[in-house]
Parts: sequence; structure tokens; C-alpha cells
Amino acid sequence: MNIGLVVYSHTGNTFRVAEKIKVKLEERGHTANLEQIQISGDKPAQPGKFELTGIPAIEAYDALILGAPVQAFSLNPVMKAYLAQLPRMEGKKVALFVTKQLPALWLGGTGSIKIMKQECESRGAKVIGSDIVVWAPSKRDQTTTACVNNMQSYFTGS
Ligand SMILES: Cc1cc2nc3c(=O)[nH]c(=O)nc-3n(C[C@H](O)[C@H](O)[C@H](O)COP(=O)(O)O)c2cc1C
Repeated sequence: MNIGLVVYSHTGNTFRVAEKIKVKLEERGHTANLEQIQISGDKPAQPGKFELTGIPAIEAYDALILGAPVQAFSLNPVMKAYLAQLPRMEGKKVALFVTKQLPALWLGGTGSIKIMKQECESRGAKVIGSDIVVWAPSKRDQTTTACVNNMQSYFTGS
């Protein structure tokens, strides 16, 4: 399967998880292309105070993995803006992940996944799985490994 891994990463954490997902998917025989959403403006991005300057196109991919950080107890505004401009995604399989610092998943994690899921499903995509990576040192390795393994199982079924 030709999978597009599209992420926004402010400090690099989400990107690092995506790199591991890419390696795992390629080990399982998929093509996985990692692309980053780029912006202009001050960082961390604030709603309405940045512009998308790098907008990965999704049409060529059979399936997508979208990843972004949690910011201020919600989905990072850059991923919100990216999702808002996406075209129809009829039948496309999509998996989602977010990274966050705080161990409590409901402090922005589950809400961010919900926003991403709604945006994708409203465009006709089929959301097949989601994960939350907690960057606090006590949870980082465990939740990263779980996310990487889950992402490959969503697309490979094992
Ligand atoms: C401005 C800002 C706000 C943040 N707000 C939250 C938050 O509400 N909840 C949380 O768990 N982590 C929060 N974080 C931590 C990031 O979500 C976390 O470090 C994430 O892994 C960063 O991903 P990145 O390196 O890909 O940008 C925040 C970080 C920044 C810079």
C-alpha cells in the first residue's frame, strides 16, 4: 500500500514518531512517504497568526497517517488548518496519532483525535485507528512503541 505520512511537528517529537512508523511500515512491505506541513509565522503557531506554506497533497496516496501535537488542550492549530483545506477523501483509509506531554489523555489527547476523526470522516475517509503518544519520560518509550506497532497493524492486520 502507498501510505502518506503527513505530520506537523513544532519541536520534533511528532516527526520522530513518524520516522519510526515509516521504518516499520516499510519493513512490512508498504511504501511510506513522510511529509511535513510547513508554516510561516511565529511558533508555536497561534490560530489565525500563521500561513500554511507547505501543504502535502494527498491524492496520490492509497491511505494516510496524520500526526500532530496537542497544543493548549486541543489539536495544534496548524493541523486544524491543514485538515480544513483537505479535499474529499472518499474511501481512503486514514489512521491518526497525536503526541502530548501530559500523561492524562483527556487533557487534549482524546479531544484532538476526535477533531481529526470528524474532519476526515466528513470528507468520506474511513478512520481505521488512532493513537496517543505521551512524551513524558515515564511513558514515552512505551506509548511510542505501542503507536508504531498499532499503526502497522491497522494497515497490515497483524
Ligand atoms: C504551546 C504549547 C502548548 C502545549 N499544550 C499541551 C497540552 O495542552 N497538553 C499536553 O499534553 N501537551 C502540551 N504541549 C506539549 C506538546 O504537545 C508535546 O511536547 C508534543 O510532543 C510536541 O510535539 P512536536 O515536538 O511534534 O511539536 C504543548 C506544547 C506547546 C509548545
